[in-house]
Parts: sequence; structure tokens; C-alpha cells
Amino acid sequence: MRIAVAGGTGRLGRHVVDVLNKMGHEAVPMSRATGVDVVTGEGLAPALTGVECIIDAATGPSPDKQQAAAFFTAAVSNMLRAGEQAGVRLAVVVSIVGVDKLTTSYGAAKRDQEQAWLAGPIPVRILRSDLFHEFVEPMMQWSRQDDVIYLPAARRQPVAARAVAETLADLATTDETRSMVEVAGPRVETVADLGAMLAARNGDPAKVEPLSDPGDPDSVLYESGQVLPGPDAVIAGPTFAEWLETDASRPAAGG
Ligand SMILES: NC(=O)c1ccc[n+]([C@@H]2O[C@H](COP(=O)([O-])OP(=O)(O)OC[C@H]3O[C@@H](n4cnc5c(N)ncnc54)[C@H](OP(=O)(O)O)[C@@H]3O)[C@@H](O)[C@H]2O)c1
Repeated sequence: MRIAVAGGTGRLGRHVVDVLNKMGHEAVPMSRATGVDVVTGEGLAPALTGVECIIDAATGPSPDKQQAAAFFTAAVSNMLRAGEQAGVRLAVVVSIVGVDKLTTSYGAAKRDQEQAWLAGPIPVRILRSDLFHEFVEPMMQWSRQDDVIYLPAARRQPVAARAVAETLADLATTDETRSMVEVAGPRVETVADLGAMLAARNGDPAKVEPLSDPGDPDSVLYESGQVLPGPDAVIAGPTFAEWLETDASRPAAGG
């Protein structure tokens, strides 16, 4: 099957492309690096020729709620229009565990992205993932102030991007009656603890400080463990600690 992967060069998308190709499908990565801009629509029509399914793993550069919402509004509208014209039969959309509860953060823009896909003419399956193991390192870089790294006290159930990609590929290529599936790792941990583990593994002497924001409703939900996956979630290893022992956790390995 020919399957287009929006964001197919990203942290998650590159694994999705690799998994699909290894399964014997033909993955078409769609990103600006491959000549497709989902925000302007440039390159979308030729990329979608003969495509049966779009996997949407694209996201813009900003975690800001408004900027993310603007990205998703334009991207989903363009993919729906071009996808319908190309005869695409299914869209599989990557979202975030618990987005229906979030109001102030990037997650709220993801909830609106889900709604935009669901309102369109193409049948949709949504995969809500928990935090990727691979996302801890960039969070540490953004929040570093000299030798202190401030990370959320949020409780998450982190999962390897490779495991998310495998679940996405299954959703895109097998019969599935559920329109929404969750995927998460095996353990609940705070993001600050994950950062401390990664710093220790890297021999980084920085101190990791948990950051709490009682004034932000989404932070309160995350810290109190109200944004964790439900009992029917797909639970996929490795744990973060196990993943740190693998080559995939080393940036040079492209993980
Ligand atoms: N990171 C996490 O922990 C996490 C957890 C749960 C769910 N998710 C979701 O998973 C998805 C993928 O996240 P990620 O961390 O893999 O993101 P990422 O590494 O930032 O990758 C984003 C991808 O989108 C592409 N892109 C950006 N602007 C584009 C445009 N205008 N047109 C076409 N492609 C564009 C990028 O390629 P170019 O720059 O070449 O265009 C890249 O391939 C997102 O929807 C995110 O919300 C992430």
C-alpha cells in the first residue's frame, strides 16, 4: 500500500517511514525537506498520487498553543482537500494522551487538530501517544539555565518513538474498528525524573529541578496524574531506563 507520512522526516515520522517500508509498503515522506509544505499546500497533490492512507505526524516548530493551532488549521485543511481529490481512503492522526482535558497548552491545539480531521470527508483513526522518550533531551536543552535544568513535575507514561511508529503502522494497515487508540510506555514517571536519568547517563553535572505551575490548569492536571492513559491503552516497552541502555537513545544513532 502507498502511504503518505506527513512529517515523515521528524522524530516520530522517520520511524513510521522505516517501519512501513520494512513491512513492504511504500511510504511517501511529506515534509518541507522532501518538497511538500502542508501549510501552503505546495507539493501535496503530486505526493498524494496513488496514496490510500495519510499518516499525519507533522507539527510546526512552536509549542505555543496559538502558533500550533494556526499550523494545524492550515495543514489539516490542505491535507483534507488534497487527500479527498486524490481518493485517499483513511487518515491516521498522531495526537497526545488526554488532549480532551487540556485547555492552555500545545495539547489544546492538538485537540482542535483531531476535531478538524474528524469533521472532514476522509475516515479517521486517531492514535493518542504519551511523551516520546526522544523528547526529553530537547526539553532539557530549552529549559537549561547554566547548570540548572528546569523540567515539569508532570506525571507521564513515556514511550519510545519506534513503538509509537509500529502502533501507527498497524492502525494504518490492518482492520481496526476503534477510531481512537492510546499508546504509552510501561511506567509512570515525572518529566523531571526522566531528565535526571538522562543527565546522569550523559555524565552531565547539571542539577535537574522539578518545575510546578499551580496557576496553569494543564500543569495541575499533569502533576496530579489526571492526564495518563486509560486501561485500554497499548502499553509498549522499553521503559525510559531500558531505552537509555540502547543505541536509539544516542542522537548519533538517529533515534
Ligand atoms: N514529541 C512528543 O513527545 C509527542 C508526544 C505525543 C504526540 N506527539 C505528536 O507527534 C507528532 C510528531 O512529533 P515529533 O516530535 O516527531 O515532531 P518533529 O520531530 O518536530 O517533526 C515535525 C515534522 O513535521 C515536518 N514539518 C514541519 N513543518 C512542516 C510543513 N510546513 N510542511 C510539511 N512538513 C512540516 C518536519 O519536517 P520539515 O521541517 O522538513 O518540514 C518534521 O518532519 C506531532 O503531531 C506531535 O504533536 C509528539
